[in-house]
Amino acid sequence: MNHCFDQAIPPRIGVEVEKWDLMGKNLDPSIVPLSVADMEFRSPPAIVQALEEMARSGLWGYAGWGDRYYNAIRSWVSRRYGWEVQREWIIRTTGVVHGINAAVRAFTQPGDGIVIQTPVYPPFYRAVRENGRTLLENPLKLVDGHYQMDFDDLEEKLSRSTTTAMILCSPHNPVGRVWTREELQRVGDLCLAHGIFMISDEIHCDLCQPDHPHTVYASLGEEYAQQCVIGMAASKTFSLAGLACGNMIVPDEENKAILAAEVARSGAYAQSSFGTLALEVGYEQCEPWLVDLLAYLRKNYQYLVDFMAQHFPQVWIAPLEGTYLAWIDFSSFGMDDSALANFLEHEAKLYLSHGINYGGKGFMRMNLACSRSVLQAALERLLDAAGKHDLI
Ligand SMILES: Cc1ncc(COP(=O)(O)O)c(C=O)c1O
Repeated sequence: MNHCFDQAIPPRIGVEVEKWDLMGKNLDPSIVPLSVADMEFRSPPAIVQALEEMARSGLWGYAGWGDRYYNAIRSWVSRRYGWEVQREWIIRTTGVVHGINAAVRAFTQPGDGIVIQTPVYPPFYRAVRENGRTLLENPLKLVDGHYQMDFDDLEEKLSRSTTTAMILCSPHNPVGRVWTREELQRVGDLCLAHGIFMISDEIHCDLCQPDHPHTVYASLGEEYAQQCVIGMAASKTFSLAGLACGNMIVPDEENKAILAAEVARSGAYAQSSFGTLALEVGYEQCEPWLVDLLAYLRKNYQYLVDFMAQHFPQVWIAPLEGTYLAWIDFSSFGMDDSALANFLEHEAKLYLSHGINYGGKGFMRMNLACSRSVLQAALERLLDAAGKHDLI
């Protein structure tokens, strides 16, 4: 069933794709970058077919506001996460990052403290700083090879009188944790105790491995739901990142109105009609494809772990519970971050996301959403280059 993920994808050079463009002058059609979090897999066939029909129509007016879109989300989230969402709670945005920035402005004041759990997705830092709020880092702890939240430090930061919000990455990019219900409950209890508004980015929730089920923060209970906004999208799930569509789900009526007004003020009121249709078809028809994708990703991760254990036993890789992003500690290579990036990019021809940009010194993030042959070739290049540097 997994054969479609093995299919070669033509190089995406010259088509304005960020992940490929980031290779800059070193663009080489035989090198597939494993950086930015979108997939080197085609979208499910049902989505491709629906978008082909839309493309052929030549009619691409503003996306509408019909029931189909909302029902697709409601049914998906209910089926997969047992969370019952009302249509009125959903705010359509051009992406989750757009929604997070709007939520920061809507629910906090300039200068307020906002907590993020580092290392983390770089736009979280920007959402705080570029909106004139104060960044409070609650670093994750690595305990026995497992990332955990530091609840003592979290409580200290949330209890400050100037702290008003937290941005949660759930599941966590880049460390690959899927927070358990118990962990989320502890975070939620601290937020409730200290009057903290929760901005929960759950864009990777569909990419949890079956043994690590996702809990929607708002599903913890009514009180938690009243003080939060949940960011979700079909983009990571079905390879739609360039279609610029996301949803912010706000269960409390008043908070929904506040966020909707801020999103409207940002002027980005229209979603892409291609993205709208893709979400509908994805949520309605493509769950079996997702099941196969998760199995394929699990095997890619295992391939990476086995390869590294054989050739680079000193390199640590975080356990992957969710997302398709492997978080790898290269500090044993003994290079500083720029030397490491230089070595990987210019000698191993391996384009990964630089961990330092997430707050992870010595780390790199490897995108595993690619066919196995691409991953194998990438790791062989690493082995060759490391051999020349006596790193093995
Ligand atoms: C945690 C997280 N949130 C949001 C996004 C991007 O969301 P969007 O494209 O909907 O703005 C990403 C993309 O990598 C992500 O990892």
